[in-house]
Amino acid sequence: MSHLIAPSVLSCDFANIQRDVEMINASLADWFHIDVMDGVFVPNISFGFPVIKAIKKYATKPLDVHLMIENPDQYVEEFAKSGADVLTVHYEACRHLHRTIQLIKANGMKAGVALNPHTNVSVLENVIRDIDMVLIMSVNPGFGGQKFIQQAVTKVEQTKKMIESSGSNAVIEVDGGVNTSTGADLLKAGADVLVAGSFVFNSENPTQTIVDLKAI
Ligand code: DX5
Ligand code: ZN
Repeated sequence: MSHLIAPSVLSCDFANIQRDVEMINASLADWFHIDVMDGVFVPNISFGFPVIKAIKKYATKPLDVHLMIENPDQYVEEFAKSGADVLTVHYEACRHLHRTIQLIKANGMKAGVALNPHTNVSVLENVIRDIDMVLIMSVNPGFGGQKFIQQAVTKVEQTKKMIESSGSNAVIEVDGGVNTSTGADLLKAGADVLVAGSFVFNSENPTQTIVDLKAI
């Protein structure tokens, strides 16, 4: 499988959200990456269900929803109803992670688990066969446009090893500071899905930038 590109709509123009959704529809992008922040787990607030439903109305590609929120369990069903196809929770936000993963799958979505830059990948050893995706954060979550943390490349290598030795089918996604240069290192290390926000939407030609990311 060639790698997937998931533009992060956090960096889109919210006054022209339909236009930007159509741009992604018509591009080589594979997924919509959707960042939900609660102002508690991360020091920022982004958007919630009404915006996700509005995106779902026009999107022709899967919605990859990245929850940066405390107590995600109480909202899992509502995210399913809002159109999430992949639902990713943070390891650091889940007291009973195994239960949360089962809940996501019971609601018909693929289950992802995200790790903050300081979290060792080994914490996923006991759930790696239960999940569909590992999300390695290559910035501290909360904001677009931050500098890539190089240690993420090593973490991708470690995750890849864990997936192979366990027989898990999980894919590896990386999020934060991704461009064609950091993206090349990540793909070499074993990443399957690259999220890119500011690199796509702040570029002169987002459609072409997605082509460039796809061609790495
Ligand atoms: C950060 C978000 C990212 C963000 C990435 O907390 O999870 O998805 O949109 O933005 P860039 O690609 O600009 O680092
Ligand atoms: Zn994200």
